[in-house]
Amino acid sequence: MSDVDDQIARAVDVLRRGGLVAFPTETVYGLGADAANADAVHCVFAVKGRPADHPVIVHLADAAQLDEWSASVPAAARTLADAFWPGPLTVIVPRSVRVPDAVTGGRDTVGLRVPGQPLAHALLAKFGGGIAAPSANRFGRVSPTTADDVRADLGNDVDLVLDGGPCRVGVESTIVDCTRGEPVIARLGGVTQDEISRVLGRAVEVSDRGDVAAPGTLEHHYAPNARVHVTTDDDVGARARSLLASGARVALLTMHPPAGLPTDVIVLDPPRDADEYAHVLYARLRESDAHDVDHVLAVPPPPDGIGAAVADRLARAAS
Ligand code: TXA
Ligand code: MG
Repeated sequence: MSDVDDQIARAVDVLRRGGLVAFPTETVYGLGADAANADAVHCVFAVKGRPADHPVIVHLADAAQLDEWSASVPAAARTLADAFWPGPLTVIVPRSVRVPDAVTGGRDTVGLRVPGQPLAHALLAKFGGGIAAPSANRFGRVSPTTADDVRADLGNDVDLVLDGGPCRVGVESTIVDCTRGEPVIARLGGVTQDEISRVLGRAVEVSDRGDVAAPGTLEHHYAPNARVHVTTDDDVGARARSLLASGARVALLTMHPPAGLPTDVIVLDPPRDADEYAHVLYARLRESDAHDVDHVLAVPPPPDGIGAAVADRLARAAS
C-alpha cells in the first residue's frame, strides 16, 4: 500500500468509528465526520464552537449520489452539478430522509458538494458515504488553507489531518440555493457569478438576505485577531500614518503597494491578480496575526470574477 492509500484507509477507519478527519479540498480544509452519524456530526459542532442551527455541507464523491441525498433534485441544481462538479460549488436542495437533523440544523434542505481535490476525492470514494464538513477552523475565524493551519487551530481535537498541501482556490465554495424558485447565490466563492449565470442561461443574483440560512454570510466572519479595514490604494498611506501615530502596529494587504509608505508598515507579500489574491487571502490574514499587528489595511481586488468573493470575505472580516 502506498503512503497515500494508507492515510486514506486510516481516515476511512476514523470516520467509520465516528471520529473527525480534517481533509483538503480545492477551496479550504474541511473538518469531516460521517454525515449519516448524528453523534459524529455533533462532535464537529462542539469542536468548531459552532451554533447547532448552522447547517453543514455534505461532501460526496460523485454527482450520481445527488439523488441519494436529495428528495427531489431541482433542474437548476442538476445543471450546475453537471457543469461544475467536481469543483468549488455547493447546491442547496431538498434533503432526503438519509440526512440527519444534526447536519441541517433541522432544515428541510441540505447543501451538497463534490470536491475536485484528489485526496478529498480518494477519501470520499473509499468511504462511500457523505462527509459532513464545515471549514476546519474555530467558528468565526479565518478558514484554513494548509494542514498546518488546521493543526494550529484545532490541535488534538481532530483525530487525523490529511495533508494535501495548500488549497488551490483559497476561498470557500460558491453556494447556490436551488430551493426558493429562482436559483440565488447565497455565498460568493470559487465559481463566479458570471459562470453560474452563463450555465443557467439567466442572470443569477447574489442574495442580500442577512438571515442565518448561510452563516458563512454572517456579517462578522473570517476574521484574524487584528482589526481589518477595507480601503483604497489612494487612501492607504494616510490611514497608515494616522494609525501609526496612535502607536498601533499596521500591516497592508494590496496588489499595488503605493510608494512612500511609512517604513514601519508591514507590507504583506502583494498578490499579482485576483486569483492569487483568493489563493493567499487567508494565509496573509494569518500572517498578520503572526506579526501581531493591531490593524490590517486591505485593498480588495476589482470586484469581478473571483475578486468579488475576495472583496466579500474582506468586507466580512472588517465588519
Ligand atoms: O468550500 C467550502 O464550502 C468549504 C469546504 C470545506 O467544502 N466548506 C465550508 O463550510 O465553507 P462552512 O460550514 O464553513 O460553510 C458552509 C455554509 C454555511 O454558511 C452554511 O450555513 C451553508 O453553507 N449551508 C449549508 N447547508 C445549508 C442549508 N441547508 N441551507 C442554507 N445554507 C446552508
Ligand atoms: Mg466556514
